[in-house]
Amino acid sequence: MKKVCIFNQKGGVGKTTTNINLCAYLAMEGYRVLTIDIDPQGNTTSGLGLDKRNLEMSMYDVLTSDASLKEVILKSELVKNLDIAPSTMELAGAEVEMIGKENRELILTNKIKEIENEYDFIFIDCPPSLGVLTINALTSVESVLIPIQCEFYALEGVGQLINTVKLVKKSLNKDLEIEGVVMTMYDYRTNLSNEVFEEVKNFFGEKVFRTAISRNIRLAEAPSFGLPIMLYDEKCKGAESYKSLTKEFLSRQSK
Ligand SMILES: Nc1ncnc2c1ncn2[C@@H]1O[C@H](COP(=O)(O)OP(=O)(O)OP(=O)(O)O)[C@@H](O)[C@H]1O
Ligand SMILES: [Mg+2]
Repeated sequence: MKKVCIFNQKGGVGKTTTNINLCAYLAMEGYRVLTIDIDPQGNTTSGLGLDKRNLEMSMYDVLTSDASLKEVILKSELVKNLDIAPSTMELAGAEVEMIGKENRELILTNKIKEIENEYDFIFIDCPPSLGVLTINALTSVESVLIPIQCEFYALEGVGQLINTVKLVKKSLNKDLEIEGVVMTMYDYRTNLSNEVFEEVKNFFGEKVFRTAISRNIRLAEAPSFGLPIMLYDEKCKGAESYKSLTKEFLSRQSK
């Protein structure tokens, strides 16, 4: 069993797209996968075809009441072996409600412990912020997967990101590691993408996945149909990218 959170406090870098598709491909390979959505935007929840308006319970209940993860987890109707702990807008209020609660950074850690043996992989999709939701995620996992967008200011904010990981490692989760860095929205037609890839490799070294995720319109379209990429267009470049990333991710696990 391995627990990973997908984290970058920068918005729109491909966290959710990576979460949805990596989870879906891992589940398709036969691994038992749980994805936990702790972003109030709920993009993983809707991107996997769940209707946020019709949820009886969500991660809000898990983080603010006695509700267990088991009570909120739903089975994906699209992908076998994939379970989802959904999020709703309500979760935005959880951050405030958790203030003052004893051990509020450990709520998710404790709830995950109750169910973790039922899965091979647990992935948490983080919001683009450094609040108590993100701290809960970073505290409850073994490693952090960092998506970085191939753009001019790619490394901007990375210092702060590393500091946050270090801080959590020092105070709440001493075993926290960096799982890897995945370059997203890579455009093979431009030099910029390649330059940014090299720059990030210089910074993170071996941690950078060799697979960069292509910029591909199909990846941007799929969530509006509530589908992971392999069910939307399994042959497109974006699907190839995430399939290859999944393979590389798995090959790293056996090392
Ligand atoms: N490889 C890609 N090619 C084209 N579009 C992409 C790609 N990856 C992500 N996108 C699109 O870019 C936008 C941001 O991606 P995504 O939602 O995955 O980022 P995020 O880091 O989760 O954002 P947030 O910080 O708001 O949670 C979305 O509209 C998504 O569909
Ligand atoms: Mg997101």
